[in-house]
Amino acid sequence: WSNGQLLKYFRRKLTPSLRGTGTSAAVCQPRPDHEDAGKTFVVLQEERRERAERSVLISCPSKTSEKKVLKFLSKHGAINNCFFYDGYGTYAVVEFANRDGIHSLHEATSLPSVLHEASVPFKSRLLNLKGNGVDQSNGPTSLKLHTQTSPPINDLIQRLAAEESIDQQLHSLTSTLELTNENVALRFLVCSLIKDIAGAFFPECTIRPFGSTVNGFGKLGCDLDLFLDLDSVSGSSTKRPSGLSVEYQVKRVASERTVTQSVLSVVGEGLEQFAPGCVGVQKILNARCPLVRFSHQPSGFQCDLTANNRVAMKSSELLWLLSRVDERVRCLVFMVRSWARVHGITSSIPGPWITNFSLSMLVVFFLQGRSPPILPTLDQLRDLASPADKCVIEGNDCTIVSDLTKIQLEQNTEPLETLLQEFFEFYSTFPFNRMSINIRKGKQVHKPEAAALHIQNPFEAGQNVSKNVNAAQLERLVALCRESAWLLAHGGVSVPPSTVRVASSGVAKAAPWGVAALLLPSVAEAAGVKGRRKKKREPASERIKSLLQSLNKPGKK
Ligand code: CTP
Ligand code: MG
Repeated sequence: WSNGQLLKYFRRKLTPSLRGTGTSAAVCQPRPDHEDAGKTFVVLQEERRERAERSVLISCPSKTSEKKVLKFLSKHGAINNCFFYDGYGTYAVVEFANRDGIHSLHEATSLPSVLHEASVPFKSRLLNLKGNGVDQSNGPTSLKLHTQTSPPINDLIQRLAAEESIDQQLHSLTSTLELTNENVALRFLVCSLIKDIAGAFFPECTIRPFGSTVNGFGKLGCDLDLFLDLDSVSGSSTKRPSGLSVEYQVKRVASERTVTQSVLSVVGEGLEQFAPGCVGVQKILNARCPLVRFSHQPSGFQCDLTANNRVAMKSSELLWLLSRVDERVRCLVFMVRSWARVHGITSSIPGPWITNFSLSMLVVFFLQGRSPPILPTLDQLRDLASPADKCVIEGNDCTIVSDLTKIQLEQNTEPLETLLQEFFEFYSTFPFNRMSINIRKGKQVHKPEAAALHIQNPFEAGQNVSKNVNAAQLERLVALCRESAWLLAHGGVSVPPSTVRVASSGVAKAAPWGVAALLLPSVAEAAGVKGRRKKKREPASERIKSLLQSLNKPGKK
């Protein structure tokens, strides 16, 4: 934007701040009751995994009706749930009441026969439904399609602009971007389909999703982190000795890491050769945490499969637990993650950028420090744990309470608007050069090692979760926090929601304000991008500041 455009933009926005008006109702309590309320993380994940094992993924004709598909499939068994979505074609996720439905379906399924090409003799649960009377090529489709992607940023900004307070905007942002039940079911189904391949080598293995799929902070379109869990196999060695043990299993290899690498190598090979829909399989076995990366085309998920990564599973449980303590946690994490993405602080490419996981840690630490605290410390979560919660992984005490109802905190009623602004202020002035973020204690502690940004890994005290972040990226984060804090504090992003502008289409649209304005790439970036083209421009924050100041000068309105 030119100076003139920026000036116009802020003139429209410079109206009294909405702070404190009508937002108190949005002060959050623990998430409302629904069917999952009261369940522990482990129980919830196990239920979803079991449902996925009774499910199939079916490629359907694009013009069909739900009734026809269900009529055809229910010949094979009772169906508990079914939904449709559009990706690389139209797909149905069908959950049978029990596995007999899948067996019956498989018996009726034939392998495809293509002239001059041989098919792999393996019946997966990714099926193709053509003919059988389900096709209605003449009529329109009557399928209700569930979206699996988040809306484009401009649509999101418009939606937020129509809200009446910053608190409502943050709730709306979260509910628009969060994973839907259907998307989570699809993620568990993909894990289960991958298990069918890995199970050919390791029949007792389990594939579990971790990271943002299950930690409460997943956004539609986020990657799918999978964990190949062989513990149910190796765990059996800890059972009472029966006088019988398997013949020496592990070849003489240097370390557990080498075993992980060879396990992932064969599973990666299996995925590449036999897993339908898995494309672009890359074995990244020399990484600090070896992984197999691939795309699962029918679901559109970018997948990272790791093994021997139990601590990451536990930190997913920790974040999930914290996300359930108070709804404001999710609202802030969704906002900070979206804001960081829009302004290029996070990236989908690995590098010196801060990760979403580290950003979540920053939010957790900030909320632990409120008065009264909105989140407990990790030590408090450990102290609340029952004996059954005890968990030690590779010598690290990873014990946390599993029963959410045991977490009782003094009531904090700060509105989200205040929290967001103070989050930005807090990190604008945090002494990153000397201090480390420690969510175990809920206190900043002296940095144990030189690193631009030091965030102690919650369960591995010796590890820094953000050791990849360099000084330049940290500086960008701090500068953007400063700018956003400044804009929120000075009303630079506030405008009455009644202000509308008429778009060229003639449709009235609310002008971006509040959180919507903070997500406008143009506010912070446009000046920077233009500045890069023309030499010697002031930094964006300086330009915005001087523009705002110029608005207050006599003679200007
Ligand atoms: N993890 C970790 N230490 C890191 C990075 C990641 O322990 N330095 C663990 C965390 O449990 C994290 C998970 O690995 O949740 C997956 O990492 P990643 O995909 O980077 O983060 P997500 O939380 O899944 O967020 P995103 O939406 O960006 O995928
Ligand atoms: Mg992830």
